[in-house]
Amino acid sequence: MKTISIDQKYVEKFVQQSELDALQPALQKAQQDLIQKTGKGNDFLGWVSLPDEIDDAFLADIETTAKHLREKAKLFVVIGIGGSYLGARAVIEALQNQFSALDSSRKDPFVIYAGHQLSEDYMHELLAILDKTDYAMAVISKSGTTTEPAVAFRILKNHIEKKYGKEEAKSRIVAITDKERGALKTLATKEGYKTYIVPDDVGGRYSVLTPVGLLPIAVAGFDIRSLVKGAQDMKAIVISENTLSKNPAMHYAALRNALYQQGKKIEIMVNYDPRLYFLTEWWKQLYGESEGKEGKGIFPAGVNNTSDLHSMGQYIQEGERILFETVLSVENNRETIEIPSDSENLDGMNFVAGKRMGYVNSMAQLGTILAHIDGGVASIKISIPEISAYTIGQLIYFYEFGCGLSGYVLGVNPFDQPGVEAYKKNMFKLLGK
Ligand code: PA5
Repeated sequence: MKTISIDQKYVEKFVQQSELDALQPALQKAQQDLIQKTGKGNDFLGWVSLPDEIDDAFLADIETTAKHLREKAKLFVVIGIGGSYLGARAVIEALQNQFSALDSSRKDPFVIYAGHQLSEDYMHELLAILDKTDYAMAVISKSGTTTEPAVAFRILKNHIEKKYGKEEAKSRIVAITDKERGALKTLATKEGYKTYIVPDDVGGRYSVLTPVGLLPIAVAGFDIRSLVKGAQDMKAIVISENTLSKNPAMHYAALRNALYQQGKKIEIMVNYDPRLYFLTEWWKQLYGESEGKEGKGIFPAGVNNTSDLHSMGQYIQEGERILFETVLSVENNRETIEIPSDSENLDGMNFVAGKRMGYVNSMAQLGTILAHIDGGVASIKISIPEISAYTIGQLIYFYEFGCGLSGYVLGVNPFDQPGVEAYKKNMFKLLGK
């Protein structure tokens, strides 16, 4: 099985093995609390067993709906925010051809997003494209009451009904929401939309393996069965193994918590492949919303290298020593490109002639890690063999389980988000709700 692995050698200058071992008992308890549902927020632990509960009939239903939507649409609008948006986008952007939006011979619908902010100009530009392109959409909100997607859906529902008529519009809309509560559920039932349920015990940021993520991913043309299989295989490991050396989620949680206990309050997720940009965004939400409470928690940040070596690289190398990094390293690229030799060598680049671009990228990665260690920045290295639906499925479950463990070790409830309400109260007051 091609699996993810954790390398702690770039942390060893900063963290003693004894510090990691000291965390193991707390992590073992946290692991049991997640499995036995005996910890904080235990009514939101449905995601723990979720991968094994996904059966063939459910996947076949998602695939059938996706097929129907794929036949109708060149664009598929996913309306949602936070956990009702980032998981699907993380997976789709990791797997899709990065220039597919520009490819007119593209067979798969191109997935675009709405309801993840309130920009009027964004919506205006989106409507202009939808005027001239066949589209369908999913409106996703677990609570069914979130303002951003509700505003976007009101506008887009109006648009799609005018464009296709009410009956046809209905066949182009899927709602994904709570089984009984919320305005979206009421509306979807009244309008007769195809509807999928977000399970009660799965919170938004842990919901990518429910229809919230699986439907958009399937519409985009990706293999949801491999994604789920990856999550199932990772689950089997992180549920059954209870030592740092055998359980990668425990190992990751131990490393980041040991660094946090030394005052490293910022974790920077680093990638060297732009396809992983939204996976970092998803990870930021997962960890930030789960851990950042009660005055505690590691602040999750992200950089995209080598681009950000020419911007944030300066701070990471020499700024305040309050951070560490986690490098998500991809061992094999999908394609190969060799750098050509040039007889004149006017650009002085013949020292890389004949080498693969991926090799140069990997040397940039190693050189950066070594420079950061010299600069006082520890690097946790997570390696995946390749970017595929299977490995992304593994990563999703690995990060989710690692987050649950970390939150419990920190002593917080990793499954609530009371702080998200504060801005809403003010906004509603200002809007006269
Ligand atoms: O993780 C979470 O719970 C949040 O980020 C939610 O996903 C986000 O606020 C959107 O909520 P809803 O799906 O209810 O619209």
